[in-house]
Amino acid sequence: MDTSKVVISKHIYGHFAEHLGRCVYDGLLRNGTPRKDMIAALRKIRIPNLRWPGGCFADEYHWRNGIGPQDKRPKTVNTTWGMVVEDNSFGTHEFLDLCEQIGAEPYLAGNMGSGTPQEMADWIEYMNYGGISTLTNLRSRNGHPNQYGVSWWGVGNESWGCGGDMTPEHYSNLYKQYANFCKSYPGVPRLKKIVSGANADDYRWTEVVMKNIPIHLMWGLSLHYYTWLTGNWPPTGGSTNFPKSEYTTAMRQAWRMDEIVTKHSAIMDQYDPLKNIALVVDEWGIWVKQEPDQGLLYQQNSLRDALLAALTLNIFNNHADRVRGANLAQVANVIHSIVLTSGDSMLLTPTYHVFDLYKVHQDSRHILVKYTSPSYVHEKDTIACLSVSASRDSIGHIHVSLVNMDVEKSLDVSIPISGRTISGQIITSPKVTDHNTFGDPDKVVIKPFNGFLKQEKTVQVLLPPKSIVVLEARDGVVLTSNSIAPESNSTQINKAVIKNKQ
Ligand code: AHR
Repeated sequence: MDTSKVVISKHIYGHFAEHLGRCVYDGLLRNGTPRKDMIAALRKIRIPNLRWPGGCFADEYHWRNGIGPQDKRPKTVNTTWGMVVEDNSFGTHEFLDLCEQIGAEPYLAGNMGSGTPQEMADWIEYMNYGGISTLTNLRSRNGHPNQYGVSWWGVGNESWGCGGDMTPEHYSNLYKQYANFCKSYPGVPRLKKIVSGANADDYRWTEVVMKNIPIHLMWGLSLHYYTWLTGNWPPTGGSTNFPKSEYTTAMRQAWRMDEIVTKHSAIMDQYDPLKNIALVVDEWGIWVKQEPDQGLLYQQNSLRDALLAALTLNIFNNHADRVRGANLAQVANVIHSIVLTSGDSMLLTPTYHVFDLYKVHQDSRHILVKYTSPSYVHEKDTIACLSVSASRDSIGHIHVSLVNMDVEKSLDVSIPISGRTISGQIITSPKVTDHNTFGDPDKVVIKPFNGFLKQEKTVQVLLPPKSIVVLEARDGVVLTSNSIAPESNSTQINKAVIKNKQ
């Protein structure tokens, strides 16, 4: 283990809200008003940014439809998601006000698919210009005389697919045209222009856009990778009712994030060796079959999904030199949600609790961890069952987050750290299918963990099967001597050693 110079950007812990199913109207709002329970929940886990209005919806969204008196706003059709009427009652001001209440930075996706460069430029002027113009007068009349200062700016979404079915060559030319007219205005932070990036392992997309777009014209490059059990859309499999084989497949597919990020980063390194350009994984999560009668793309969320989220966040932490933004899809009632709602009730999913546990890593200094993971084998699937990341926060406390994906066996791990006090918290449950319901909302939650032993040169941890543990070493020290795995005769215990970086 070794403290590096890399900071884990808090923006890795971002979320995403699209006009899709019950995400916005019902998830973020109740009868048109922002949900107080939701705002409190999102504030608690310190969500750093919220991406909106899509997704695919972004490339059919015309911002002028979503400003002014709500009863006068046009009714349009959400042709991407269900052909439902969009009354545009949740628009720019409502979104930006909500972000302010949550304490999150807004991350907007501009319409490149069906909008013009002028429309995109106007939206930015409307929000960000501090002087007097026709557009900013309009903003004042709509209740916000002061400039907003939105800086996260996606130029298109999935331009290889729903955003316009473009080739990377065509997209990069268009990007240059659009991005050129996206201006940074005085008095507010510079725009962080984000190139619409690849789908999963489409490395050619990254190669072409990195080659064609000068790096001074971009702040980041996005990447979308969903965990689909078959590796491809359409989604299959259950959210709470699935066999062990589906669990193992999901974890194997989730581990692919590491390879995919590594390979895209390597391509970016060729054009941007100093790693100035951020890789922003602005859509990720496990996507299974939609459940009946709950809205488009609604799925419950089990301990499996929490393990998967913890694994993915460890991967991002360990790639923090390049990954400086990410957004779980989506924040409420759609795909891999942290919150589910039903009328006036709201519940926190097991994945919510992972974000709560892991918030200690936000803007902390990354600690490089070297380890070899034992394997978990089920039928034809083999996965590495241990995932670890670590960081040191601004007041010197070390946090180590560990995931044991083995469903049956505990894992005996030796970590070469010390500290004034060591404490731990855990998320686990008897079954990987366990989940929280409106009748039983606290089945899978964070609990105190004391399954560790502080020794002279290590902390010995016994990670229960299917568990996520975060250890805290107050005023922590990474020890320089080698660590030794404890002996154990039990066949129910796997062993792992986390080494000091020599
Ligand atoms: O998150 C759901 C959809 O998945 C988004 O709209 C799109 O960008 C992706 O294909």
